[in-house]
Amino acid sequence: MKVKVSRKAHFNAAHRLFRPEWDDAKNLAVFGKCSNPKYHGHNYDLVVSVTGAIDITTGFVMDMKVLKDLIISEIEDAFDHKNLNEEVPEFAELNPTTENIAVVIWQKLRPNIDPEHELEVVLYETPRNFVTYSG
Ligand code: NI
Repeated sequence: MKVKVSRKAHFNAAHRLFRPEWDDAKNLAVFGKCSNPKYHGHNYDLVVSVTGAIDITTGFVMDMKVLKDLIISEIEDAFDHKNLNEEVPEFAELNPTTENIAVVIWQKLRPNIDPEHELEVVLYETPRNFVTYSG
């Protein structure tokens, strides 16, 4: 029997989607408002889910305080109120799309989660646009 437990988190961050080899007009055509050369912000909502067996001793799949602290130390401290392009090394040459941010979050959390547990990341860039990555 497997159970999925989830923790919600939140961060604010600025970004710009662009390809440096394209001019502003082409970046605007492909990336829309998210290509603004002066950057802009999003209120990102994050749902991190861990799936596994319930531990017989504790009754937990995973201690949610541990998961909460892991999201704070690995994700919120690194991303919150940051310019993703300029201040987060993972995006120095990687477009900080919702897709890429979700994958980076998963990669940062995965080594810290029990290997026997499945990890899923859902990242909302807006209430209506969200991405799911589970490895
Ligand atoms: Ni944007």
